[in-house]
Amino acid sequence: MDTVTQLTYQALQQGTAALSLAHKQLANQVAQLVAPTRETATNATRSTPKPLPDGALMQVNARREKLYAIDLQDADRGIYPASLLFDRPWLEAIATYPRLWLDLPGTWERRDRQAYHEFASDIDTDGYPKYYLQNFHYQTDGYLSDASADLYDLQVEILFSGSADAMRRRILAPLKAGLDRLATTETQPPIPQQVRILDLATGTGRTLRFLRGMLPKAQLFGVDLSPAYLRKANALLSELPGELPQLCQANIEELPYRDAYFQAVSCVFSLHELPGAARQNAIASAYRVLKPGGTFVICDSIQQGDVPIMDVMLENFPIVFHEPYHSDYARDDIEGRLELAGFEAIETYDYFASKYWVARKPAFPESMD
Ligand SMILES: C[S@@+](CC[C@H](N)C(=O)[O-])C[C@H]1O[C@@H](n2cnc3c(N)ncnc32)[C@H](O)[C@@H]1O
Repeated sequence: MDTVTQLTYQALQQGTAALSLAHKQLANQVAQLVAPTRETATNATRSTPKPLPDGALMQVNARREKLYAIDLQDADRGIYPASLLFDRPWLEAIATYPRLWLDLPGTWERRDRQAYHEFASDIDTDGYPKYYLQNFHYQTDGYLSDASADLYDLQVEILFSGSADAMRRRILAPLKAGLDRLATTETQPPIPQQVRILDLATGTGRTLRFLRGMLPKAQLFGVDLSPAYLRKANALLSELPGELPQLCQANIEELPYRDAYFQAVSCVFSLHELPGAARQNAIASAYRVLKPGGTFVICDSIQQGDVPIMDVMLENFPIVFHEPYHSDYARDDIEGRLELAGFEAIETYDYFASKYWVARKPAFPESMD
């Protein structure tokens, strides 16, 4: 890869990290000034975030640098075009930023009241699973309004100091390897247009965007429960050339596709927002819709013990943000769940703050029920 691309990427990442940090510091100061936590009975029993151990930030920064090095490396070895490294909706972020500030006081207020089941009166909450009807991250309207969908990408980028997309892109290499391996086992390997990939809980479609960049001709599908996030995904994905990914509003626990339909399935940053039983159902559902020999790639938060120096951050995360299932997820045996569903050849690895599971549906599954 040429030096200009590398330097531009590094400068971009450093710039985003600096802007994110500045925003977080300012937002904290403003919150303390205008919305200090009140001394209430509820707040008295609340856990408070613990300080990070000495040296944690240095190690965390080193892990982030390693993530960026791999991101550059994967682009350099042609897994995906280098243009994906710069796929940043800057104009949208600039336009959204003032709205983020306008939304913050409501977030602080909900956190102070420990209120996380609040939706605007015009939002229809019928038919959603109970676990879903929450203000995850204390965000206004949870996942159920267009305003929430508009703010989401910027909020995630700030949370991860600009590294969220680089973490998402780490699913691309194993997914591509899985497709290549599957193609070699088939008597008639599919032409690129016959490759079908499904992204579970796709949100605003960031992962689909990267999949489209890597596989311009594949048939892409995305499922999410939120009509608002799907609308946003549809608008953003419509900007891209090529076939529009097919989006569907559904619960990932019960996917509305026939058995053995996809060569690969992905799921990014979503399992931690499901209770254990729903997590298992989503994994079983992914197994059902995968072709024998197909690949399932999960990206989510690292878990307790993966990176001991970051354990305190994992404990703090659900305290600072409303993440009701994260503590359970952080101790969950996802590998065991994958095996229970029937997956084999399970590999795990981690980059920066995220962990990955790559699993294969056996070429000759015992049962296709
Ligand atoms: C933290 S966001 C992750 C979105 C996206 N994958 C990303 O990388 O940004 C979680 C997403 O999962 C969706 N979701 C949560 N539970 C779901 C379920 N049971 N079925 C379908 N979507 C679900 C939410 O609507 C939301 O879009």
